[in-house]
Amino acid sequence: MNQMVISGVHSQTFVAANLLRTEQFYTEVLGLPVVKRTVHHLDSHLPVVTFGFRSFPGEAPRGETITYVEWNPIFYMMPEKGFTDQEATNRGVASPRVGDPKGRWGAGTNHHLALHVPNRNGLLKWKRRLTDLGIHVTGPYNRNYFHACYLRDPDGAIIELATSEPGFGHDEVVLGSGFRAQPKENLIGGRDEVSVAAETWPHPVPSVTSDFALRGFHHITSISANAERTEKFFVETVGLRLIKKTDYLDEKGGTHFYYACDEDLSPGSVLTFFGLPGYLAGRLGTGLSHHFTLQVENDAALKEEHSRLGKLGVEVSSIQNAVYNQIFHFRDPDGHICALSTPTNLTVDEDADSLGQKLCLTEAGEKDRIAIERNIAYRPAPVPILE
Ligand SMILES: [Fe+2]
Repeated sequence: MNQMVISGVHSQTFVAANLLRTEQFYTEVLGLPVVKRTVHHLDSHLPVVTFGFRSFPGEAPRGETITYVEWNPIFYMMPEKGFTDQEATNRGVASPRVGDPKGRWGAGTNHHLALHVPNRNGLLKWKRRLTDLGIHVTGPYNRNYFHACYLRDPDGAIIELATSEPGFGHDEVVLGSGFRAQPKENLIGGRDEVSVAAETWPHPVPSVTSDFALRGFHHITSISANAERTEKFFVETVGLRLIKKTDYLDEKGGTHFYYACDEDLSPGSVLTFFGLPGYLAGRLGTGLSHHFTLQVENDAALKEEHSRLGKLGVEVSSIQNAVYNQIFHFRDPDGHICALSTPTNLTVDEDADSLGQKLCLTEAGEKDRIAIERNIAYRPAPVPILE
């Protein structure tokens, strides 16, 4: 096997209808810090808030970030070219208020982001805490390779909380060596939903303590209408490693393929796809992820991948300077927007110990700070930008 050029998962970017509400949810409910407040590098009308993960003694710091962009429609965000439907893009950009900003998952969109919880007791603590705060949680489900609960962000995007036990290696010696059918008791229709729903932590959990605080990403799951085509793309073209082929546990007839994005299969480095044959295409919008980003080590590797993917016929954007990283976007065969990026450096305009405390703007942006701050504060209707 060739050495993997991708070095892990970098980030996931979601669209929110109300960033303040999203921020309260992430900081007060989920206990994650804001690590950057800025505006989108392609359109300063779009406010952006990025959340990171706290570090814990004895544990390696986690560099993944969750970014939320607020604005409707989000069609502004695909650089250079339009969205999956050019006509809808034009309509949406020209008249955002009559666009349809609500996302709906389907083929070519993300399904959920899974965050890593240290262990199953931690999972139960999250369930109790969130439930007590009025947030509906489903699970804990036995996913055979980990245990997981599910909730929604304030806009409806699905967030999973997942343990790393027992791991991917317990039902095959060579990961990804063949299709592994799932035990009936883990499948929809076969599992005991009543006892799953009843299980929770026995005591109230008013604060997020280090024993169960979120540790970073666990995996990112998207939807494919053709699992084999997606496998070919992510293994042969992008260069990831297939580590598990199994059933989709929550809908009969679907598959679930897992891909590792780094050599040592560290938590957070996994990308997965539900294979739902013939599934309808989704639509990007609020309450859905816009894209996920994989990481390469440096600028040179990014340039190399950009040219390599372009030569292989993959639709790629130009490499953009996103202030904190260099990035380009591309699409998988279902049209899902993916990105490759260099590692993020959040300290180019803030000290490491005071991240996320001010609105960070580029030098050019500083000239328009008053207008930008005003826009973020009052969120006026966007000005049509098409003729
Ligand atoms: Fe998942």
